[in-house]
Amino acid sequence: PDRPEIHRGLAGVVVDATEISSVDPASSSLLYRGYPVQELAGTRSFEEVAYLLWHGELPDDAELEQMRAQERARRELPDAVMETVLALPLTTHPMDVVRTAVSVIGAHDPTAEDRSPEADLSRAQDLMAQLPGIVALDQRRRHGLEAVDPRPDLGYAENFLHMVFGQAPPEPVVQAFEVSMVLYAEHSFNASTFTARVVASTLSDLHSAVTAAVGALKGPLHGGANEAVMAAFGEIGTADRVDAWLDDVLARKQKVMGFGHRVYRTGDSRVPAMKAALDGLLAIDDPEGLGAMYAALERGMAERTGILPNLDYPTGPAYHLMGFDTPTFTPLFAASRVVGWTAHVREQLAHNALIRPLSEYTGPERRHVPQGAGR
Ligand code: CMC
Repeated sequence: PDRPEIHRGLAGVVVDATEISSVDPASSSLLYRGYPVQELAGTRSFEEVAYLLWHGELPDDAELEQMRAQERARRELPDAVMETVLALPLTTHPMDVVRTAVSVIGAHDPTAEDRSPEADLSRAQDLMAQLPGIVALDQRRRHGLEAVDPRPDLGYAENFLHMVFGQAPPEPVVQAFEVSMVLYAEHSFNASTFTARVVASTLSDLHSAVTAAVGALKGPLHGGANEAVMAAFGEIGTADRVDAWLDDVLARKQKVMGFGHRVYRTGDSRVPAMKAALDGLLAIDDPEGLGAMYAALERGMAERTGILPNLDYPTGPAYHLMGFDTPTFTPLFAASRVVGWTAHVREQLAHNALIRPLSEYTGPERRHVPQGAGR
C-alpha cells in the first residue's frame, strides 16, 4: 500500500493563514503586521508593538494613551498569584513558576463564562501587565528580597526592570531590554504559538492555551536556548578557549545553543538589532569578557558549520549584563511572547478549525486478544 507522506516536525507544512506576522526566509525578514521588526525595535515601545499585534495597526496618540493607561492599571498581582508563587519551592524552575502562575490567574478568572473576543482581549491585557510582576517576584524571592510595587509613572520596560531590581536602571539598559521585548513578541507558527493555537482550537480557554504555550517555550530547542547560551559562556570562560570548546562540542555531535533556525537560512533578522543593544551594554562594562567570547564563538561556528546565530544568542549575554539570573531568561521571553500567543489565540478563534493531524501507524498489525489470559 502507498505510504502517506510524513512531515516530521511539521517541517515545511503550512497549516493555516495568519495576518499577525510573516517570516520570509529568503530575505531573512520578520514582519509584524507588515512592519519589519528591525524598524520597530528601538523606535517603538513594547506597548505600541503589543497594540499593533493585537489590533493590526500601530496606535494613534489617543489609542496609545489608552493602551498605556490600561497596562499600568492592571499590573497589581492578585493575592492568589502572589501566594502561589511565594509557596513554590526555590528548586522550582522559573518557567514552571510562570506556567503555574498563569494557570492560577485562569483559575481565578471571574469572567470565565464570557467567551467573547473582548473578554479574551482583556485577559491578554491582564497577562501582559502581570507577567513582569510574576517574573520580578520570583527572581527577588530567590535572593531573599521583598516584592517591589509597580510604579504607575513608568512605562512597561522601565517598570519591569524597576520591579526586578528595585531601582530604575540607566537608559541604555532600559533601551536594550525594550528592544529584546519587542523582538521576542511574535514569530508566526513557532512551537509555543502553535501549541497555543492547538489548545484554542478545541475551544478551550485562553489561559489554558497560554499555560500550554509556556510549557512549550521552556524547552532548550525553543525559548530555553537563551539560558543555554549563557551556560555555554560560563563553561567556556575566556575567548581563547572558544575554539577548543567548539571543536569538542561539534565532535560530540551536540548542538551549539543560540545558533541555527528552522526557518531562517541566511541569518535571523532579529539578531542585528539585538546585537546593537548588546554592544551598548558591553560598552558600559564587560568584566567577564563576554564581548570577545561572543565574537569568537560566532566566528568559530561560521567557519566550521556556516550556521548563524539566532535571537537567543545576543539576548543571553544581554540579560546577564542587565543583572538577570540565567534561569529567568526564558520567563522574560514568555513575558514578551504572551502578546503573540494571545493575538494568535484570538485569531484562531475568529475562524476556528479544530487542529487534529493524522499519523502513520507503524505498531503491530491487527491481532486478537489472547483467550483466557488476564484477569
Ligand atoms: N549547532 C550545531 N549544529 C547544528 C545547530 C547548532 N545550533 N543547528 C543545526 N545544526 C546542524 C544539525 O546538527 C544538522 O546537521 P546534520 O544534517 O549533519 O545532522 C543540521 O544542522 C540541521 O539541523 P536540524 O536540527 O535538523 O534543523 P532544524 O531545522 O530542526 O533546527 C533548531 C532548528 C533551532 C532546532 C536547531 O538549529 C537547534 O537545535 N539550534 C540550537 C537551539 C536553539 O538555539 N534554539 C533557538 C531557536 S530560535 C529562538 C526560538 O524561536 O525559539
